[in-house]
Amino acid sequence: MLENAILVTGCGRRIGFHIAQRLFEDGYTVIAHYRTYTDDIRILAEMGITTLQADFANSAAILNFVTEIQTVCKSFRALIHNASSFEATSDDLAAAADQFDQFFNIHMKAPYLINQGLQPLLMGEKDDPADIIHITDINVENPTPRFDIYGTTKAGLHNLTMALAKKFAPQIKVNSVAPGPVLFTEMHSEQVRQQMLAETLLAKEGGAEPVYLAIKALLTNPFITGASVPVDGGRRLSKR
Ligand SMILES: NC(=O)c1ccc[n+]([C@@H]2O[C@H](COP(=O)([O-])OP(=O)(O)OC[C@H]3O[C@@H](n4cnc5c(N)ncnc54)[C@H](OP(=O)(O)O)[C@@H]3O)[C@@H](O)[C@H]2O)c1
Repeated sequence: MLENAILVTGCGRRIGFHIAQRLFEDGYTVIAHYRTYTDDIRILAEMGITTLQADFANSAAILNFVTEIQTVCKSFRALIHNASSFEATSDDLAAAADQFDQFFNIHMKAPYLINQGLQPLLMGEKDDPADIIHITDINVENPTPRFDIYGTTKAGLHNLTMALAKKFAPQIKVNSVAPGPVLFTEMHSEQVRQQMLAETLLAKEGGAEPVYLAIKALLTNPFITGASVPVDGGRRLSKR
């Protein structure tokens, strides 16, 4: 049975994979959640990281995950909610309704139920509080209309950060990390990439490591809660 672990959701690729790997390298016990089994999950498992599958598609699946994780781990140092779904809002209303359910479940309901369900098991180090960290997006402050359902549900997660910071104090700190353009996806055309970089003060795609460094800073700082740390190269100031 694991103790004092850090749960990271959405570790099957990209930023989640990087966070799990880096936490492990830094000496934390890590549980890596994934939806789809990938080579990256295989690599994490081969490193000795415990991996756990779940699709946060509905309440029952999320609640099952909360029950299942307690059979492998009896206390948690931190919960890091990275799992996410990212796509433009459909023009078809019925499809948009489905997207709303999907984004709501993954960005808001899963973090809420997991945090609430595991809260009694979250333990800090010595006299310091434990941590919950939500990975949000700079869209929560300055929305992109084409991605309004994605952004709105991420904004709900941003609000949950502040609500739970109040609710779980002083035993648990609750903070957000809000990335900007850290890793492009295949849906970003060359033209869109150039526009995003032109709007980014530090003029580059940041990569996953700056997200990890923000997480590490929050984990190691005992006096920050209810805060949102932007990791966006300054794009929130100039994004149209
Ligand atoms: N990349 C950026 O530049 C950027 C910018 C702003 C914010 N962010 C935020 O940073 C975080 C990581 O970004 P990323 O680009 O690495 O994300 P990503 O490539 O979209 O990966 C998201 C992960 O979440 C998992 N996931 C999706 N739907 C799920 C579900 N229903 N149940 C459980 N897991 C599910 C995915 O699993 P599958 O493999 O099964 O799909 C995937 O492993 C996200 O929260 C994102 O919103 C990223």
